[in-house]
Amino acid sequence: MCGIVGIVGNKPVAGRLVDALKRLEYRGYDSAGVATIYDGRLERRRAEGKLFNLEKRLDAEPLSGATGIAHTRWATHGVPNEANAHPHFVDGVAVVHNGIIENFSELRDELVADGAVFNSQTDTEVIAHLVARHLREGLDPAEAMLKMLNRVTGAYAMAVMFRDDPGTIIAARSGPPLAVGFGKGETFLGSDAIALAPFTNEITYLVDGDCALITREGATIVDFSGNRVDRPRQLSQATAFMVDKGNHRHFMEKEIYEQPEVISHALSQYVDFATDRVNGMASQIDFASVSSLAISACGTAYLAGLIGKYWFERYARLPVEIDVASEFRYREMPLSPSQAALFISQSGETADTLASLRYCREQGLKIGAVVNVRESTIARESDAVYPIMAGPEIGVASTKAFTCQLAVLAALAIGAGRARDMVSVEEEKALVRHLAEMPRVMSQVLNAVQPQMESLSRELSKCKDVLYLGRGTSFPLAMEGALKLKEISYIHAEGYAAGELKHGPIALIDEEMPVIVIAPHDRFFEKTISNMQEVAARGGRIIFITDEKGAAASKLPTMATIALPHVDEIIAPMIFSLPIQLLAYHTAVFMGTDVDQPRNLAKSVTVE
Ligand code: F6R
Repeated sequence: MCGIVGIVGNKPVAGRLVDALKRLEYRGYDSAGVATIYDGRLERRRAEGKLFNLEKRLDAEPLSGATGIAHTRWATHGVPNEANAHPHFVDGVAVVHNGIIENFSELRDELVADGAVFNSQTDTEVIAHLVARHLREGLDPAEAMLKMLNRVTGAYAMAVMFRDDPGTIIAARSGPPLAVGFGKGETFLGSDAIALAPFTNEITYLVDGDCALITREGATIVDFSGNRVDRPRQLSQATAFMVDKGNHRHFMEKEIYEQPEVISHALSQYVDFATDRVNGMASQIDFASVSSLAISACGTAYLAGLIGKYWFERYARLPVEIDVASEFRYREMPLSPSQAALFISQSGETADTLASLRYCREQGLKIGAVVNVRESTIARESDAVYPIMAGPEIGVASTKAFTCQLAVLAALAIGAGRARDMVSVEEEKALVRHLAEMPRVMSQVLNAVQPQMESLSRELSKCKDVLYLGRGTSFPLAMEGALKLKEISYIHAEGYAAGELKHGPIALIDEEMPVIVIAPHDRFFEKTISNMQEVAARGGRIIFITDEKGAAASKLPTMATIALPHVDEIIAPMIFSLPIQLLAYHTAVFMGTDVDQPRNLAKSVTVE
């Protein structure tokens, strides 16, 4: 999604703004721009595509000025070209904006009728026109901004700069996040604390309905009616992390290989390894007293939730209702305060997930959030926060956040099982011991399967379609495998429940399309083997991801068999995630796509 940065400083800002944009690159974007005020003039440089295009512009035509705003744009209204790139200028007003102005057509018609001329196809430009109109009416910048905010509807974060008031940036939030950072004689604005990391770790997060007047001395925050509000200053933890690729070619590769380490961070929050018991963090919600659990999330986080559903139902006998957040929020599902709801989100800012959370809050449910960003909106609006401790995930395709979400959900399900007396202390200890094996087994698997995945990726890169099959928790994993492959390699892929094969997808089987079967040697193994037989009988090419026991038990011909160590069912989804992540990664690398920022995708989806 779009990224916003701003500096009201005491030295030149253009270079620093672009550096800050680089730290937001992970969010995904397709054009970028920067504007400063210098010598009574607003100046800007904008470029389509990646930030190095903007840097080339700036090298050729540098920008001076100690106040500036900058933006990476992920197109919503209007194609990603230079004219639609932010900042947008109207009569001495410069605007950058993230989100969607929903009443933009109506406002645009009104402004055009009033003589306004639009230079872009964006919804953002109405903001600049409205503020400029209010300044002409004689209002000061803060008054003009508030008047505009009371006209626009939608979800947005924005920053506005004024040619005639060069020491001020005014920011507003109603949806996507914004953080104000405090330096020495300089004040900063950013879409997240990572963007501001080189400048400061003293941060104030704006909340929905906040408008911040930012000067070199600090920030004054008011609501949209102009009443002063106080927001706490905090030391951001995000700034403690270095965002670099280390020795890896891509962030995604680095993040795949970080999993053994971050999984142990995740587990250590919820599990006491000395006693093999889950701890108090896992019982923030009293699962014994809830009638059922509603889970909602998007994309990969949703698939983690789907695996969680199997665990909560199996180990805690707790019924789970789960849906993708974009459907959940509009289903008008009957809910009651006897239920609890769990929202899973790496970023903690996903618009649909947040809207589902607010729907559940209105219905009086107890709310839990499984998040990576502790300071995020979803975390702040929840009763119980379950951090996944994965560290910043920069690659757009989620990898380590997925397995850490799973680790946390597994611990919560075991805790719920104990609380509901469905898991004995002995069973709890045995399950926790299995969780504790994960980091070691993950390291072993990452080293062992990498060469095989790299060579298989050459085969996969020649295909147009790939089918993934699995049963039980391997079914959501099959969908995750397909999602990972399609989003970064652009090869069409689908994940199906193996038992559904003969209800339709079997018609696709031929010698061309590989079928990736995920089948640990578990309760479902024999059933999945029957489905594999159906594929083999039709000449289908099978990539069999199983364990040593499964490889020994199956006699079916395969294109490749990947035999992982045999592990307990509770940790199999995390271990089996590794080959599917590596396969997608190497296929994308082989095909030469932009692995960390695949086309059209954004990391933090703050619009519906
Ligand atoms: C896919 C991926 C996305 C996210 C989804 C939710 O690899 O990363 O599908 O999982 O956009 O994002 P969060 O977890 O930030 O709510």
